[in-house]
Amino acid sequence: MEEGDSQRDLIAPTFLRALKRAIPQRHELRIYLARDMWSSLKRFGSEQIQNVELGSIAGVEDAVINGYIDDRNRGVVAALCQALEARTFFEIGTNRGRTAWTVAHNNPDCEVYTLDLPGREAIADVELGLNASDRDFFVGEWDRGEAYQGTPEAARITTLAGDSANFDFSPYAGQMDVVFVDGAHSYEYVANDTRKALDLLSPTGTIIWDDYPAIPGVYRYLNETSFDRPLRHIYETRLVVYSRRELVADCGRGSRARLFAA
Ligand SMILES: C[S@@+](CC[C@H](N)C(=O)[O-])C[C@H]1O[C@@H](n2cnc3c(N)ncnc32)[C@H](O)[C@@H]1O
Repeated sequence: MEEGDSQRDLIAPTFLRALKRAIPQRHELRIYLARDMWSSLKRFGSEQIQNVELGSIAGVEDAVINGYIDDRNRGVVAALCQALEARTFFEIGTNRGRTAWTVAHNNPDCEVYTLDLPGREAIADVELGLNASDRDFFVGEWDRGEAYQGTPEAARITTLAGDSANFDFSPYAGQMDVVFVDGAHSYEYVANDTRKALDLLSPTGTIIWDDYPAIPGVYRYLNETSFDRPLRHIYETRLVVYSRRELVADCGRGSRARLFAA
């Protein structure tokens, strides 16, 4: 190996420079480095959720997705829908509608249903507890679904309004190929929304949760709850997947697991 090409040679100077910058750039240290390290540690410390690489999921590694690049998780959700040949997709938590649009745009045979509260004032009447980050979505403009309004995809997107704790999901029960759980993130709401998601699933359906391992309510609920199928976290995303589809192989922690049958 040429001098200067070794990772080991970079360790000492990098640590020294990072230490020197730790005080003047403590905001970056706290927000990016510490947060990322804490998230990685939580993910690594989970006994029940196996981590798999995106590139090892059949049908996802070669997906070409056209969509918003502000958050690559939307693209991964849309690619999973393609790989699973989803005809129906139910999202709990619409916000601006960017994921709903990305899923609809990249899955032309898929009907998308997306649920959010009916308006800003509805936050006062939600049935279960919210956490502080949930409340951040209720400041500023009320722009739910704006990303798909007026687009050709809107013809396949049904906007639903209600609190996921008491919304009547029964017309959709047993019919959804993919359910995306991304509404309120308190433990109580994640528990409620997961129970509703399980009721919505078709016999070969899949649930995808956002915000793992970052948000404590999501992390704790998914780690403490027993499911009849394994939960998989996809590395370098916030997504955890439960699927009624057969796995190609069950593999040990940290291995390059293949998630779905080809
Ligand atoms: C993280 S955002 C959703 C982001 C969206 N899924 C996306 O990928 O762009 C969470 C959304 O959940 C909605 N929400 C919060 N509590 C809810 C509840 N009890 N029932 C339905 N929606 C809720 C919020 O209004 C907010 O729009």
